Amino acid sequence: MAKITYIEHDGTEHVVDVKNGLTVMEGAVKNNIPGIDADCGGACACATCHVYVDEAWREKTGSTSAMEDSMLDFAENVEPNSRLSCQIKVTDALDGLIVRMPESQH
Ligand code: FES
Repeated sequence: MAKITYIEHDGTEHVVDVKNGLTVMEGAVKNNIPGIDADCGGACACATCHVYVDEAWREKTGSTSAMEDSMLDFAENVEPNSRLSCQIKVTDALDGLIVRMPESQH
């Protein structure tokens, strides 16, 4: 279980507990948090679950796979800390994670 803070583009914060084994995307969708569309349902095929991982958490969330990298090309305003939230698995190690949503998911 990890407490994750999702911050909308306008600064609205949502703090929720997400079970281990779910993805950061699923944690948002299950809790009706706006800002993550997840059109493909987590198959790494839509890039509408784009988030910015807080700098302090970049290492713990791991690095992008080649597939994630190529999907990120379809997201807008990609930054070095951009990730597809469906590719980040929740574990106890991510307790306290902070992610920010982009202005829109293309
Ligand atoms: Fe489609 Fe993440 S939900 S790429």
